[in-house]
Amino acid sequence: MQPRFKRVLLKLSGEALAGGKKFGLDFDTVLKICSSIKKCADLGVQIAIVVGGGNFWRGRFGGKMDRTRADHMGMLATVINSLALADGLEQVGLDVRVQTGIDMKEIAEPYIRNRAVRHMEKGRIVIFGCGTGNPFFSTDTAAALRAAEIDADIIFKATNVDGVYDSDPKTNKDAKMFDTLSYLDVLNCGLQVMDSTAASLCMDNNIPILVFNLSDPDNIYRAMTEGNIGTMVK
Ligand code: GTP
Repeated sequence: MQPRFKRVLLKLSGEALAGGKKFGLDFDTVLKICSSIKKCADLGVQIAIVVGGGNFWRGRFGGKMDRTRADHMGMLATVINSLALADGLEQVGLDVRVQTGIDMKEIAEPYIRNRAVRHMEKGRIVIFGCGTGNPFFSTDTAAALRAAEIDADIIFKATNVDGVYDSDPKTNKDAKMFDTLSYLDVLNCGLQVMDSTAASLCMDNNIPILVFNLSDPDNIYRAMTEGNIGTMVK
């Protein structure tokens, strides 16, 4: 099987790692996701991962808290998820390196772009923790930024919907899913694919985004090998 891409930035939502539990980690789910990633890596695809932290904490949960502090807590949540993923990926037989955008060198390597690329060239999966390392940015923006830095061919946004719809498919049974969309459609129509900072970063750097459902973890492998899945933003 020929993979469609050489280097992919996989963006996983934190909730995806919680499985049916909605909160925290369900390690069986983590392992299923890791097995699908392993099948992709076995095709020779270079894979980097950015994971969210919403299964533990989101900056906006902070309510009356100082936003910067609440975002720092969210970044720590992404590190928990990064370590869980690293463990799962090692269990399925992959080499992994975790790099964080905020130094915590007893736990993970610091983020060094050239080193991340070198790891991928050696067949290692690189997981980027802490988002961009800055408050006020989402992990979607971190995915867009890291994808641009490492010259990824595409961002896989694995999420909890099949793709991007013209209205909410949960409330409108006639909602239609788009096969492809332009960045400007996403920006102008306020479609909830990703926030505008992330979308414009992808537009400026010509990085396509494939949005697809992770409820079946094998979709990561399908997206890597088949054309007819999810919505492509380009
Ligand atoms: P190569 O130099 O390409 O062989 O990469 P490598 O990552 O195998 O070598 P290195 O000797 O740099 O790292 C060995 C191990 O130490 C790997 O598991 C790294 O993830 C880990 N490591 C390297 N730097 C740090 C760091 O700053 N903090 C932590 N916690 N681990 C690190």
